[in-house]
Amino acid sequence: MKIAVVGTGYVGLVTGTCLAETGNDVSCVDINEEKVDKMNRGQMPIYEPGLEILFYRNIAQKRLDFTTNLAEAIKDAKIIFLALPTPPGGDGSADLSYVLGAAKDIAGLITDYKVVVTKSTVPVGTADKVKAVFREHTNVEVDVVSNPEFLREGVAVEDFMKPDRVVVGTQSERARKLMDELYAPYVRSGNPIIFMDERSSELTKYAANSFLATKITFMNEIANMCELVGADVDMVRRGIGADARIGKRFLFPGVGYGGSCFPKDVQALAKSASEVNYDFSILNSVMAVNEKQKTVIVEKMRKYYKGDLKGKKFALWGLAFKPETDDIREAPSLYIIDALLKEGAEIVAYDPEAIENVKKLKGDTIAYASDPYEALEGADALIIVTEWSLFRTPDFERIESAMKAKVIFDGRNLYDLHRMIDCGFYYNSIGRQT
Ligand code: UGA
Repeated sequence: MKIAVVGTGYVGLVTGTCLAETGNDVSCVDINEEKVDKMNRGQMPIYEPGLEILFYRNIAQKRLDFTTNLAEAIKDAKIIFLALPTPPGGDGSADLSYVLGAAKDIAGLITDYKVVVTKSTVPVGTADKVKAVFREHTNVEVDVVSNPEFLREGVAVEDFMKPDRVVVGTQSERARKLMDELYAPYVRSGNPIIFMDERSSELTKYAANSFLATKITFMNEIANMCELVGADVDMVRRGIGADARIGKRFLFPGVGYGGSCFPKDVQALAKSASEVNYDFSILNSVMAVNEKQKTVIVEKMRKYYKGDLKGKKFALWGLAFKPETDDIREAPSLYIIDALLKEGAEIVAYDPEAIENVKKLKGDTIAYASDPYEALEGADALIIVTEWSLFRTPDFERIESAMKAKVIFDGRNLYDLHRMIDCGFYYNSIGRQT
């Protein structure tokens, strides 16, 4: 099938590449000429494991191309995906100007039936707004479909190729058939394509992310409780996760959720609720608790150093908001860095992928190491913020000989508590005893 994808950000690029992989002919459109040139020359603009190989293959086999020419890209396309940014506006609600602007441009160009799919995370009612733009600007028949993405950064290719489910919001039989045909190769294992109306589909995306953010936040609070009552959150997590109604996944406490999705979507859902005069109070609590959790480690450090962090040197492992990405949006590391710098501490950071992005924001206010052990030289403590696999089984003897003191603040519970105590470390993790 001939497909156009408008917007080559993270979602657009993964969507376009993975749709090409099953034999579709995909044209991706972006206004950024330099980016388009680079992609056509085979340069990937983002880091996402497993995407590169599909990207090269599909460009080479001419099923995937990039252009700045919207008219050309959509000319023969049956389905047009809108994967455009919806940044939070000043009041916390999603800014739809890119999505509605693209709809207007498309309306001015089309001459035959199209399915236009909103792939970006958009507030309930957006499909109706997009439909209104088409009604106003063209007489050509268009079906507007909501098809939220549930990709996780770091495993996006797997999530796209073998989704737990595909959610499609449309009330048009014609659009439904096309979407069914398009997604059939991805749900061969029997996972469902769930068809529903547009508004339910739009809300499903916010509900999923907000539920997961709430689940994590609940566990963070249980972890904080564990520390106060002498319990171990790892045990509690296993104890409750074995109940199929609760489930094992997404129960890991830490330094708060970050990234480009959870913080934005929880805020946007709370805002949409307030617009219809509904007080979605659990979401306000989730946001407040998460804000605090991001610097829970700094609180622990203040206590340990009796309020005096000035001049102390700290090694920080992990800057990305989670492993397998260079994304630092809303990353807890940034909040920890700011809080520590404010107290007059020195930081040497290491991350396998995200250093360049942090440099752009923090410049030389902190130092950067080229490997994890270099960051530890003369450090008063090690702070672990992101659970990269590389940090899971380090050489503890090297750690010990590089550091000034055997002190670890672990925001991701990477190590066995008893082993650390036996090795003589002061080891302060989340929801476990020290
Ligand atoms: C999230 C959702 O998981 C995807 O399904 C969704 O498509 C995506 O947002 C989106 O809306 O585009 P993502 O932001 O890539 O994906 O990352 P997650 O793996 O979900 O992690 C989010 C945050 O939660 C991270 O900061 C992570 O460290 C934290 N987390 C996750 C925990 O603290 N504990 C857990 O048990 C799991």
